[in-house]
Amino acid sequence: MVVIETPIAHTIRLNGKEYDYFAGNNYLGLANHPELKKAAVSAVETYGINVSASRETTGTASVHLALEKAIAEFKDKEAAVVFASGYLSNTILAEALQDRYDSVFMDEMSHPSIRNSIRGTAIPVHLYRHKDIDDLHALVRRHAGKNPLFMTDGIFPLTGDIAPLQDIAQLAEQVNALVIVDDAHATGVIGDNARGTPDYFGLHNHPRVFQTETMSKALGVYGGFIASLESDILDVRRKSSAYIGSTALPPSLSAAALAAFTLLRREPVLRTRLSENTRLLREGILSLGYETSTDPTPIIPVFLAVRNEAVALSVYFQEHAVIAPYIHYPVETGKFIVRLTVSAAHTAEQIERVLTLLKRWRNEREKT
Ligand SMILES: Cc1ncc(COP(=O)(O)O)c(C=O)c1O
Repeated sequence: MVVIETPIAHTIRLNGKEYDYFAGNNYLGLANHPELKKAAVSAVETYGINVSASRETTGTASVHLALEKAIAEFKDKEAAVVFASGYLSNTILAEALQDRYDSVFMDEMSHPSIRNSIRGTAIPVHLYRHKDIDDLHALVRRHAGKNPLFMTDGIFPLTGDIAPLQDIAQLAEQVNALVIVDDAHATGVIGDNARGTPDYFGLHNHPRVFQTETMSKALGVYGGFIASLESDILDVRRKSSAYIGSTALPPSLSAAALAAFTLLRREPVLRTRLSENTRLLREGILSLGYETSTDPTPIIPVFLAVRNEAVALSVYFQEHAVIAPYIHYPVETGKFIVRLTVSAAHTAEQIERVLTLLKRWRNEREKT
């Protein structure tokens, strides 16, 4: 485990030594941004650390409402609701929509927060093969009730590939299904307006597609949100016990998130830099002959055939002052992964160093 002693940025310091940091999910480099920090500190002065209550009792501060308004505007939706955990956003939305589906179909590589969102209910859950729309269709024919619900990650966090949302939405229309896409890694990253996977596929405001989102990754902050129709957000506030029964997102984080949404709009260059760095690193890795995913996302895994190789590569990186972890995670991919993640803050020199190390590592292994 890497124990961080400095803010997360394109470099970090561990035990007094500087490392290039190609890990985590700070895609736009906002996690240590001065404007976010200033907003958070100022909100601590105004509100203290914590509202110590549920949003629905006495835990709503004016900054929560300002953030929800800003999110609804950014997402071009009627309304939004924020809460303290991105992980809980799937449970919260599944609870809010509980009267609208009677069977659930999930990608087999879905994030644990999707898998856990339906647990403890009597609703049957079926897993379809990763991104396999034919398998989803076949399962639906065999098992669906009247109102199926499809659930998938937008960008898959281990492999960096994008769900085939266009096909999924089309099938949803045919079989009267709803779709929840977990856009934890896609919000602020893909789509013409950085609104995530539906935006990327031209499905923005598709009536059957819902998103669950987090502010802990591209936005650099913390906490979950859902943006949708006013009536859907009312359903969250009335029906979700996970939402009603948990303490509100701290005001300082809400204020930092508000600043992050402002920055995202004001500085499109952040996204341009992220796309350019993504392209540089992915194309470089592919041209070295390594296996990686090809979708344009900042999660750029190196797939290796055996576990020892993946561990050895990650160790080699660290010995050469780069953090790029070997990932073991509660999602079965059938691959051994060293996961590099790139951010808008990386320099071209840093990316070049990583590519040089990848080349040297393979050469050195071939010699032994
Ligand atoms: C796909 C996905 N959904 C949800 C989450 C949970 O979000 P958070 O960490 O902000 O709670 C994560 C990762 O952390 C994730 O990768």
